[in-house]
Amino acid sequence: MKQKNIIIGITGGIAAYKACELINHLRGKNYNVICIMTRQAEEFITPLTLETLSGNKVYKDMFELPDKREIAHVSLAEKASLIVVCPATANIIGKLASGICDDLLTATIISSTSPVLIAPAMNDKMYRNKITQRNIETLKKVGYKFIDPIRGHLACGYVGVGHLAGLTEILKRIEKTLK
Ligand SMILES: Cc1cc2nc3c(=O)[nH]c(=O)nc-3n(C[C@H](O)[C@H](O)[C@H](O)COP(=O)(O)O)c2cc1C
Repeated sequence: MKQKNIIIGITGGIAAYKACELINHLRGKNYNVICIMTRQAEEFITPLTLETLSGNKVYKDMFELPDKREIAHVSLAEKASLIVVCPATANIIGKLASGICDDLLTATIISSTSPVLIAPAMNDKMYRNKITQRNIETLKKVGYKFIDPIRGHLACGYVGVGHLAGLTEILKRIEKTLK
């Protein structure tokens, strides 16, 4: 069976390190994993880690000179069987809901016709904020699927809803979407 390409979008939240485990599991299931990270994600994990785990080049710069005559966000968008944003910040959700595509990840998602799964992770006040909730609703209405965050210990020291969903749940949703 032809290997499926999964794009993992990693954004600048404290849960960014959890993307590493997800990538490992997906590779173990024989998916081709391609990572796109935002500039802010690099504050939390390194491109070298993602490149080593995924076994592929890590994409992060929209204006990097391409190896071949192809535009990164368009060719990445075409390759994807599925795009998973994990973890997704309040910022990326807001940008997607507004149609802003000023970085490689948002530009790729907007250029793609593949299914998009979004796994938010953030402080509970950020998550409950009416603007964040409105943005989530906007994206749901146009077909983006969410893997809801759970109640748990948050980086800010509180317990609340905003903790990234468990790895098992994320993997389950990925497999279900790809079927
Ligand atoms: C220590 C630290 C932890 C952060 N964790 C989160 C987080 O878990 N979720 C979130 O939405 N934003 C978080 N932020 C804020 C984002 O990094 C910020 O909104 C950034 O602009 C996101 O950029 P991106 O969406 O392009 O990756 C955190 C910031 C800092 C300094």
